[in-house]
Amino acid sequence: MYTAAVLTVSDRSARGERPDGTGPVVAALLEAAGCRVVETAVVPDEQAAIQAALTELADVTGAALVVTAGGTGFSPRDVTPEATIAVCERLAPGIPEAMRAASLAVTPRAMLSRGAAGIRGRTLIVNLPGSPKAARENLEAVLPGLFHGLDMLLGGRADCAGTG
Ligand code: MTE
Repeated sequence: MYTAAVLTVSDRSARGERPDGTGPVVAALLEAAGCRVVETAVVPDEQAAIQAALTELADVTGAALVVTAGGTGFSPRDVTPEATIAVCERLAPGIPEAMRAASLAVTPRAMLSRGAAGIRGRTLIVNLPGSPKAARENLEAVLPGLFHGLDMLLGGRADCAGTG
């Protein structure tokens, strides 16, 4: 069972003006897939705050998987991908490619998510869009393949043979 953390990136939720509706949806999906969600947090759309939270969740909490929700679009304050790329040592572009490919079957607006994914140490960080619906659709598109990546990252089953 892998540990996971969920980071919601939202100015309004961080200010307490809107309840975080997306973090709990993401956490429930991760738990249903067999992860143990060890931390959830909310930060505003500030690159420094996002980077600090990602660094803490990866290096101190030590979560195998950190999933962010929100801040991937085109508004001037959407900087979650920039924060993610800044803290990652290696990018994993196939993950957002798969999310956008699957999401384009749902909405042409899928192309507007600039979400990224990458590896910091022994943690995989994955960006999702911010609405509960979009977050669910994007996460469900990649969850089946994600665990093989975590197996490789964390030194468990590293054999790519087979159909998984
Ligand atoms: N992907 C899916 N599967 N479903 C959606 O409804 N919404 C899109 C896109 N990806 C959407 C989606 C929209 S409208 C935007 S603006 C971007 O995600 C970025 O969302 P964010 O700014 O909340 O991160």
